[in-house]
Amino acid sequence: MSVSGKMLQFMESGSWIRKMFEEGARLKQIHGIENVFDFSLGNPNVPPPDIVQEKLLQVVQEAVPGKHGYMPNAGLSETRSAVAAYLCRQHRVSLAAGNIVATCGAAGGLNIIFKSLLDPGDEVLVPAPYFVEYGFYADNHGGILKTAPTKEDFTLDLHAMENAVGPRTKIVLINSPNNPTGQIYSADSLMALGEILTRKSSQYGRTIYLVSDEPYRKIVFDRSPVPCVFSHYPNSLIATSYSKDLSLPGERIGFVAVHPEAEDVQSLMGALALANRILGFVNAPGLMQRLIIGLQGICVDVEIYRRKRDRLVAGLKEAGYDLIVPPGAFYLFPKSPIPDDVQFVRILLEELILVVPGSGFGGPGHFRIAYCVDDGTIERALPGFRRAMNRAKAAG
Ligand SMILES: Cc1ncc(COP(=O)(O)O)c(C=O)c1O
Repeated sequence: MSVSGKMLQFMESGSWIRKMFEEGARLKQIHGIENVFDFSLGNPNVPPPDIVQEKLLQVVQEAVPGKHGYMPNAGLSETRSAVAAYLCRQHRVSLAAGNIVATCGAAGGLNIIFKSLLDPGDEVLVPAPYFVEYGFYADNHGGILKTAPTKEDFTLDLHAMENAVGPRTKIVLINSPNNPTGQIYSADSLMALGEILTRKSSQYGRTIYLVSDEPYRKIVFDRSPVPCVFSHYPNSLIATSYSKDLSLPGERIGFVAVHPEAEDVQSLMGALALANRILGFVNAPGLMQRLIIGLQGICVDVEIYRRKRDRLVAGLKEAGYDLIVPPGAFYLFPKSPIPDDVQFVRILLEELILVVPGSGFGGPGHFRIAYCVDDGTIERALPGFRRAMNRAKAAG
């Protein structure tokens, strides 16, 4: 066998999302695409705003010398300046182009951060439930993913976080609005987390970095604020992308921003740029970097997601599901009506409904619904959700 043992194991234990995707493809072949209700993928279904298409045409037609050439690994200075200026306005921090690296999405951003900060055996602590790829990203760079539970409503459990920070913790990674729960972490909780990390860094005699993964920052409802880590802890970094807020996940464009007062900021910026190069990203896609210069602050129509959330929440509550109404992202994370979430996901599958077991996100006893699907899918799936609940109740 030529594939490495580790990859074989990753492929086997692999992602639930991928397993559901494959199962969905099989069911769609048998029953027809319109009869399978696929809530398994976080692939935005709201089209990019019209201005994206307009700017894209402009960017393609622009006569710029060396437009398709190599560039600095950190990205184009015009792009980095535009991002920095936007963040300064948004978060009232004093950032410059030198604090920004353009990346291949948020995933590329997290990988260059981990590559730059982790030594073998260093730990990345994340509140659970969490985005399942984090474990792979930490492993890519010799890191070990550790988790701490969140509260019943998926807000930060600061006591659990404090207890979980140890002498090998190098990074605390948070994701707000959260995938899979849709929860947002409050300013008070970020402030308290910052205090914990300051205390723990001095206790262990090494800097613990706070990394905020925030591709859903703009996908929020009812004007819910999304506090910024930069206001609460200097050794902080943001990794994000335009995948969700501009519906461009296939174009692989995002950025990393580093707090201007982070320790060793100059060498950290150098490491991030080098990591972009040596991980093989080299630089974020050039045309996309030019595109986003003029799209700072632009977002898809979030009302469309809010409508879907409200319809699904109402239908599920009526059917007897127990869930929080998430203030952001496009996921619901209801409680499974039976303790075994994998078994319940199988029951839903029999109704041709595809969701992902919470166990796949470190949140057993729940399941994730990605509601970035058309309204008709939601309406037609609700009777199946109701029948599955009734079956689970009858069995229990
Ligand atoms: C929490 C979270 N982080 C990172 C990513 C990766 O985003 P990107 O496609 O921008 O790399 C995703 C994608 O679904 C996500 O949900």
